[in-house]
Amino acid sequence: MMVRPGIRLMGRMPTSTLLRASTPLPLRHLSTTIPRYEPSNALMPKTVERDEQRGPIVGTTGPGADGPHPSERIEPVATVTHDHGNWTMMNPIYTEPELDCVKVVGREPVTVGDKAAHGMVKMLRRLFDMFSGYIAKDVPASVLKENPNAIAELRKSGELLSDKDWMTRIILLESIAGVPGMVGGTLRHLRSLRLLRRDGGWIHTLLEEAENERMHLLTFLTVAQPGWFTRALVMAGQGVFYPMFFLTYLVAPKLAHRFVGALEEEAVRTYSHCINDVEKGFVPEWTDKPAPQIAIDYWRLKPNASLLDVIKAVRADEATHRFVNHSLADLDQTRDFNPFALAEAPAEIRGTKFGFTRDESAQFAVESQRKLLGQSHGGISPPKEKDEVEGQNSKKVETE
Ligand SMILES: [Fe+2]
Ligand SMILES: [Fe+2]
Repeated sequence: MMVRPGIRLMGRMPTSTLLRASTPLPLRHLSTTIPRYEPSNALMPKTVERDEQRGPIVGTTGPGADGPHPSERIEPVATVTHDHGNWTMMNPIYTEPELDCVKVVGREPVTVGDKAAHGMVKMLRRLFDMFSGYIAKDVPASVLKENPNAIAELRKSGELLSDKDWMTRIILLESIAGVPGMVGGTLRHLRSLRLLRRDGGWIHTLLEEAENERMHLLTFLTVAQPGWFTRALVMAGQGVFYPMFFLTYLVAPKLAHRFVGALEEEAVRTYSHCINDVEKGFVPEWTDKPAPQIAIDYWRLKPNASLLDVIKAVRADEATHRFVNHSLADLDQTRDFNPFALAEAPAEIRGTKFGFTRDESAQFAVESQRKLLGQSHGGISPPKEKDEVEGQNSKKVETE
């Protein structure tokens, strides 16, 4: 489990159950009377009651996290190795095995909404492929031995993409991919303001996703600058996609997260194809191309990292978006806490599984709270299996 850097925890710890007065707390916010925090992100007692009556809520078992702040005791998982300052939001840092474990996996649509989301993504992909002349073909590496001109010929016939074709495709995709997280974060932020409720840790994860996608875009822009036609397409794409996604998220956030999950499945597929082509030598312009400095800083890569390492990190990020959005799509959008507010799921899981079910999210949230709060406070007892875990979230959570 990757624990998020401590400095991030202050604003994102979900409100939880009652803090025990007997617990030895090394605390600066603790008042003489320890307040009771309810398993709901609502503030008004009546709303809390109504939330609880609707059944268990994901992420609400475990010691409370509002009064004491554990950040001082948490070691950051990665240290900044450069002197440019840490100017980005939290983003995952990967080991080599974590980069290589990413798989192309797809979630089988179940509900009508799922089918609509997946159908829409497939249709958009087909249109985009047709428009950009992309053929998802696995060309064997052996063709290079048989024919030294194979690359030029295959590029001409459209069976291989050139470095410029890859770049155009990536820039168009990344310029759109940065929209959903910002829309989701904005709408949940506004909802919190409008309804005078807490958010349960969703906003930061969604904003981090938006920034992560923008960092992909900025990284690739250091490799190549698009011409006016691609820039016009980016503007047109944003003009159409932003309002459509905004309205979808406003009325059907589950559908919107499912749509993003399906979109990210395609992103992992595309980047896997790109990685294969570079590894086989089909994009010779990139074979020995060094990683741009912005990418080395952002993903904490080795100083001699290559562009291929960067593309692998981007693919691992896309797998994370796939996992997070499919998991969020399974949650109760108005009551459940974000199970990834305290800690990321392990990279191997994010890279190989399309998402958590609501039950798995509930279990993961309990484990994260136990691990993190137990570790950070040093003295707070983790919730007891029988009294607290089985009593609430380990109950089968009804899927709504
Ligand atoms: Fe991306
Ligand atoms: Fe993505």
